[in-house]
Amino acid sequence: MMAKDIQEQVLERLGSLIDDELGASLQELGLVGPVSSRLRRVSAQLYYVGGAPEVAQRLQAEADAAVAELGSSVTVELLPLDPAGQAQLRERLMTPEMLEARTTRTPVFSLPGSTARVIGVSSGKGGVGKSSVTANMAAELARRGRRVGILDADVYGFSIPKLLGLTSMPRVIDDLILPPKAFGVKVMSLGFFVEEDTPVIWRGPMLHKTIEQFLVDVLWGELDYLLVDMPPGTGDVALSLQQFLPRSEIFVVTTPQSAAVRVAQRSALAAKKLKLPVRGVIENMSAFVTPEGERYAIFGSGGGARLAGDLGVELLGEVPLTMALREGGDQGIPAVIGAASDLASESLRELVDRLESLGPVRRYRSDLKVQAK
Ligand SMILES: Nc1ncnc2c1ncn2[C@@H]1O[C@H](COP(=O)(O)OP(=O)(O)OP(=O)(O)O)[C@@H](O)[C@H]1O
Ligand SMILES: [Mg+2]
Repeated sequence: MMAKDIQEQVLERLGSLIDDELGASLQELGLVGPVSSRLRRVSAQLYYVGGAPEVAQRLQAEADAAVAELGSSVTVELLPLDPAGQAQLRERLMTPEMLEARTTRTPVFSLPGSTARVIGVSSGKGGVGKSSVTANMAAELARRGRRVGILDADVYGFSIPKLLGLTSMPRVIDDLILPPKAFGVKVMSLGFFVEEDTPVIWRGPMLHKTIEQFLVDVLWGELDYLLVDMPPGTGDVALSLQQFLPRSEIFVVTTPQSAAVRVAQRSALAAKKLKLPVRGVIENMSAFVTPEGERYAIFGSGGGARLAGDLGVELLGEVPLTMALREGGDQGIPAVIGAASDLASESLRELVDRLESLGPVRRYRSDLKVQAK
């Protein structure tokens, strides 16, 4: 092969590598550098966005594999994108709406033109499986081709990165944070920035500021769904959510237990007070069923239906206790992906069906009054 041909092929192969998080090829992103050859040795350069060494390593491996077939005389060198390059890339990635949203410190999701549904997953008390349900719903939505993000707003007990097996730091372009992606789901969490065993001791204003940054400084791109894993209880995060994302819909997770239902009710009432619509109830940790079909209602039964009845909303699903759901969480592979035939996965899929068919909240404009006859 002529040196010229090889150079072209190298350019083509490297350019067609996809940056999954940015959803475009390196060529489209302008991240392919010059290729040169000297004494039958071809050297190519790629630019990478800094902040996450693991991502750079992965890119190097992908690039090496892409040119491997062309012979051992081709080497690819990775260079960090310099500030000018970053500014250029930033410009490429931002739509006019995004730029406007950033200058006004508004999340793109609350702009009038946004079609993203913002789903706040809340619970009265901790440990009811809110994060597991959120992670699985998101993975299932992404599997269906929806554009999905999870904002881990449980800053005190962040667990979404782990549930989705995400370990790398987010990359940073200029002043934008790129949300790492797993199973097609974009994620932003304090867990990326804080060691797991470090306690987070914050006051309300700091929390509010962090939620703002996670919404405004993170390059979410266009989404169909943003799922927000809210901390248990009624507190500050609901208030922040209401301020930044007034179009959020709230879904309340409860166990079947009476005591859990009472606490869940409180968080639902808090949402109502904030004028966030409560759309439905999700019962988790419903009866465990043995392969022989024997039911064990370990956490009691009927709680979800009762709460839904009290709130006047629909019970969207009952997710049973299963080993696969717990194991999936521990391994960082959501059960809906890793154990699709599990009973919990089955009901999570039905839950997503319901969520999708429910559709976004209809908004009534207060200036349009229905005429009484
Ligand atoms: N349906 C289920 N079957 C089996 N295990 C489950 C189920 N749902 C959740 N779990 C397990 O229960 C534990 C708590 O779940 P998870 O962390 O999702 O709850 P949470 O409500 O987000 O808790 P926290 O209040 O700590 O944020 C986890 O170990 C999880 O794997
Ligand atoms: Mg949680």
